Amino acid sequence: MIDLTTTYMGLHLKNPIVASASPLCDSVDKIRFLEEHGIGAVVLPSLFEEQLILESESVDADLSRGAEAFSESSSFLPELGDYNLGPEGYLELIRKAKKSVSIPVIASLNGSTPGGWVRYAREMEQAGADAIELNIYSLVTDPSRTAAEVEKDYCALVRKLRENLQIPIAVKLSHFFSAISNFASHIDTSGANALVLFNRFYQPDLDINQLEVVPSLTLSHPSELLLRLHWTAVIYGRISADIAVTGGVHRSEDVLKSVMAGASVAMMTSALLQNGVPYLNAVLSGMIEWMEEHEYESIKQMRGSMSQRNVPDPALYERANYMRVLSSYTLRSPSR
Ligand SMILES: Cc1cc2nc3c(=O)[nH]c(=O)nc-3n(C[C@H](O)[C@H](O)[C@H](O)COP(=O)(O)O)c2cc1C
Repeated sequence: MIDLTTTYMGLHLKNPIVASASPLCDSVDKIRFLEEHGIGAVVLPSLFEEQLILESESVDADLSRGAEAFSESSSFLPELGDYNLGPEGYLELIRKAKKSVSIPVIASLNGSTPGGWVRYAREMEQAGADAIELNIYSLVTDPSRTAAEVEKDYCALVRKLRENLQIPIAVKLSHFFSAISNFASHIDTSGANALVLFNRFYQPDLDINQLEVVPSLTLSHPSELLLRLHWTAVIYGRISADIAVTGGVHRSEDVLKSVMAGASVAMMTSALLQNGVPYLNAVLSGMIEWMEEHEYESIKQMRGSMSQRNVPDPALYERANYMRVLSSYTLRSPSR
């Protein structure tokens, strides 16, 4: 009997597949459907810092300044007030989901500054969320802001959440840092219980006929997993926080690779949007089949087995391998 159970931030999961934040988890019915098809845990779609600020600003504005007076957020975020059900609806979703399913329900906050809005996380906790995932999504375009300042703010944000919460905190990061290992360890010591590697940024496209900047959202490809595997393997064992992989997990072997690199869980969205939620059954049975064939008994047994500290040649994860890869391509090229 194969044991697929795992622990993630102290939560017990029946298997390491988690539905990451997306509209797949935005209603109780959808969350129940995911549970019925075997998901280990769900992350609710994010509630945005701007939504929380907008809510408090609109109260202030109504009271004292008039609807036109408050900051730029009012001009581009009018529809955000009710996005993801809005702050009140979000708490209601947590409460209802917790009554309806037995898998862990992780709430998600999307923000980048350590503002007063973070207190809202406590309401998510009180509503019953098993953990909070903080999606730090910031696009720093100001050339006078330094990397050190940005990282300091991120750590302050995590510390502020930690001060406000009893439940575990996961931090979802992008890979755009020049010293990821160092930054990961600072986020770890700021109080994160897990790192979620990595956010996908949705870069706008350019319409050269209409001369417009066009928002674009594309689903992931399994090749995106490699970046996540690399950094998971490098960071595993160097921080005390757990690691979750998100981005490019599409198949059974992608989940197994994530675990072997060192992840406690592997998250899926694109694959479930593309193939439908029942596709989870195939992924889970594919994992069991592979583990039986290769005589693994449990997920715990394979965690980190291919991390940098556990492979015979750690240089495979370093610069030396970059040169090896490039030269191997030259050798394979047809001679003219
Ligand atoms: C339609 C859609 C909505 C998403 N919404 C959120 C969100 O609200 N918060 C968040 O942290 N990530 C969000 N994501 C990102 C996913 O949680 C996930 O990290 C990303 O899609 C990479 O995983 P994948 O390769 O399995 O799709 C969204 C992704 C998609 C496709």
